[in-house]
Amino acid sequence: MEGRALLVRINRYLAMCGVASRRSAEELIKAGFVKVNGKVVNDLSFKVRAWVDRVEFKGKIILPEGQVYYILNKPCCYLSSLKDGIDSKKGLLHLIKNIPERVFPVGRLDYNSEGLMLLTNDGELALRVSHPRYGLEKVYLVWMDKVIKEPHVRQMLKGARLEDGFFSPDDVRIIKQNLLEITLHEGRKHIVKRFVSYFGYRVVRLLRVAIGPLRLGALPSGQYRPLKESELRTLKLKLYQGRVNA
Ligand code: URA
Repeated sequence: MEGRALLVRINRYLAMCGVASRRSAEELIKAGFVKVNGKVVNDLSFKVRAWVDRVEFKGKIILPEGQVYYILNKPCCYLSSLKDGIDSKKGLLHLIKNIPERVFPVGRLDYNSEGLMLLTNDGELALRVSHPRYGLEKVYLVWMDKVIKEPHVRQMLKGARLEDGFFSPDDVRIIKQNLLEITLHEGRKHIVKRFVSYFGYRVVRLLRVAIGPLRLGALPSGQYRPLKESELRTLKLKLYQGRVNA
């Protein structure tokens, strides 16, 4: 930045300030929540001079934050958004008490799904983690309502035509009679549940145990911790230097 203002597109600036991911920030900008130097900016191509322009979100001045990264073990019966739902379902803010920065969850898990969630204020990284284009694999342990038949697993590996298009997992393994491990790199809604239901199974428990190089490990349900340096380095290497499957 030496001497010159850093010019960043308005949605990216909001992400740098920990307001939302770049994609969600676009909606907030279009909705008129953002002012630059006193004027509402709706134009998504607008560029902000970081540390020079006065940028407000919902009337409060926002500034770029230092980037922080946490993993959380989301328990069942919490939304994967920060705030509670209109139906009074609890959001993640009930679990995260001592993070001073405004972090947001990356990607989603269903209300009754559990496991690994990444929390960060780094909008650029968040976008890459959740976008299938970057091919970051997610691993799920999936408990079924009945014993899994071997031929079904072979068919699962070939994929299935779901109502929103074809889906093929990266890997499917039987761990126990009624427990599968499914690896995929898609973010479609209820994808695991819809996929196994195509083969006649119902999910009774769904736990995400890995996102790319990040592992849930022994982190207790409902707890969170900062990413280790080594974890962050491996994640960034994968996201920024790996080949993009465009
Ligand atoms: N697939 C689902 O069906 N639900 C989740 O929460 C995640 C993946």
